Amino acid sequence: MPYRPEDDEIPNPLRPGLRAESAPEPCAVVVFGASGDLAHRKLIPALYNLAVGAHLPAAFGVVGVAKSEYSDDQFRADMREAVGKFSRTKPIDEDIWADFAAGLRYSPGSFDDPQTFVRLKGKLEELDRARATRGNRLFYFATPPSTFPTLLTQLKSAGLINPPSDPAFTRVVIEKPFGRDLASARALNRLVLETCDERQVFRIDHYLGKETVQNLLVFRFGNSIFEPIWNRKYVDHVEITAGEELGIESRGRYYEEAGILRDMIQNHVLQLVCLTAMEPPVAFDADAVRDEKIKVLRAIETFDTPEEVMRNVVLGQYTAGSVAGTDVPGYQEEKDVAKGSRTPTFVALKLNIHSWRWDGVPFYLRSGKRLPKRATEVAIHFSPLPHSLFGDGRTQPNVLVIRVQPEEGIALRFSAKVPGERYRPRTVSMDFRYGTTFGSASPEAYERLLLDALRGDQTLFTRKDEVEAAWKIVGNILKVTESGEFPPPYSYEAGTWGPQAADQLMAQDGRAWRRL
Ligand code: BG6
Repeated sequence: MPYRPEDDEIPNPLRPGLRAESAPEPCAVVVFGASGDLAHRKLIPALYNLAVGAHLPAAFGVVGVAKSEYSDDQFRADMREAVGKFSRTKPIDEDIWADFAAGLRYSPGSFDDPQTFVRLKGKLEELDRARATRGNRLFYFATPPSTFPTLLTQLKSAGLINPPSDPAFTRVVIEKPFGRDLASARALNRLVLETCDERQVFRIDHYLGKETVQNLLVFRFGNSIFEPIWNRKYVDHVEITAGEELGIESRGRYYEEAGILRDMIQNHVLQLVCLTAMEPPVAFDADAVRDEKIKVLRAIETFDTPEEVMRNVVLGQYTAGSVAGTDVPGYQEEKDVAKGSRTPTFVALKLNIHSWRWDGVPFYLRSGKRLPKRATEVAIHFSPLPHSLFGDGRTQPNVLVIRVQPEEGIALRFSAKVPGERYRPRTVSMDFRYGTTFGSASPEAYERLLLDALRGDQTLFTRKDEVEAAWKIVGNILKVTESGEFPPPYSYEAGTWGPQAADQLMAQDGRAWRRL
């Protein structure tokens, strides 16, 4: 019988006490940056899909805030177009849309102008009356990081942030990048905590909203057979890839400032490392899970000298090439990218985690734009056999691959006897695929995370100390790679798996990247 989520009587282990269908309290969501890409592509379609799944409370509304002078009706029309284009479920359900759209409002203005926030307050009070949202607010900063301090200060001065003790809740969702190095992340954290309480702050990393990323926890801690071998005694090395076919799209200005280390490693990839390497938490609640994740970040060796960075980090930048049969320009030909730019679009790096569980087991990470395919996975390479009974090189070490995307699933590689009179082993694979097992499409990461924020569950959001610990690791690398002493990134042709030096990084240890 196919799997049906409604048959699932077990409360979600990541959200103790909450049944899959428990609805959040009444609430108004305020989206700063409502005219931007994120609001159009992800946030509003995600909220609409939560309405489709009957996850939203009846008393619910959304206020978009941006500079453009829209009326409420123009905003509704714009959002309808966005949902039509980007929604996971299609076509639009007219009845659900009508109710959702009735709760949509727009409040224009510049973030520097205190009047914007006075107007917003009026709009929210009107929404409270019209939709019974009871003064509960979720502020979503879908804006460039340079606006975060202004937004926090203005919200505070306009009296829009209630203390956590107030019966009406205020929560703030802050998009990445949270700072651009350790010092700026600390400064931002200071400001955030002068304005709000940590319990009100939701630093978002959309990777944590992916089903397959959450499944790392269930796979590790919901089964008894993997945990005993999940350590330095049995694991030879761990390989994590987050590869994309996409280039930088129209985000040249942002990307020139960020580069791959800030864009992917400091957040998404280090989160994958944490979930792969953490100890079992004492409970499945926000602090217990995050306490274990931060221990991993603290145990990761930081590179303190340029030599250590040179030895363990390879940077690359794509040149023109062909991806999935289409010719694409090189990074330096992209819009808003400087000729001669040294911004890396690829990184391969080797990390060590100095803990009882992992010491001596290298974690190889790689991420890049314009690679041959989109592929994100965690591969646990188990130790080779101490002695082979079937001839040298006839058996391959076991590998467990957790495919985060696409083709979400888990595969275990092992040796089996080829039929016949001789003992000839061959590597075969046991494969679990989400799509075929569960049938239904997984919700988008933003749906899950918005719902958690509406419910006040911080488990899948990054805590202050976590974000700072991740910056410490990446910041030390950036200090060297951006110092001018580090060589410019190696070139790699778009549509290839990065520069040869990345292969060398593995080859010098007698290992090789998986061919994906
Ligand atoms: C974003 C990065 O955070 O993650 C993008 O800014 C990247 O550059 C994206 O493309 C990748 O996310 P996903 O969900 O497509 O793997």
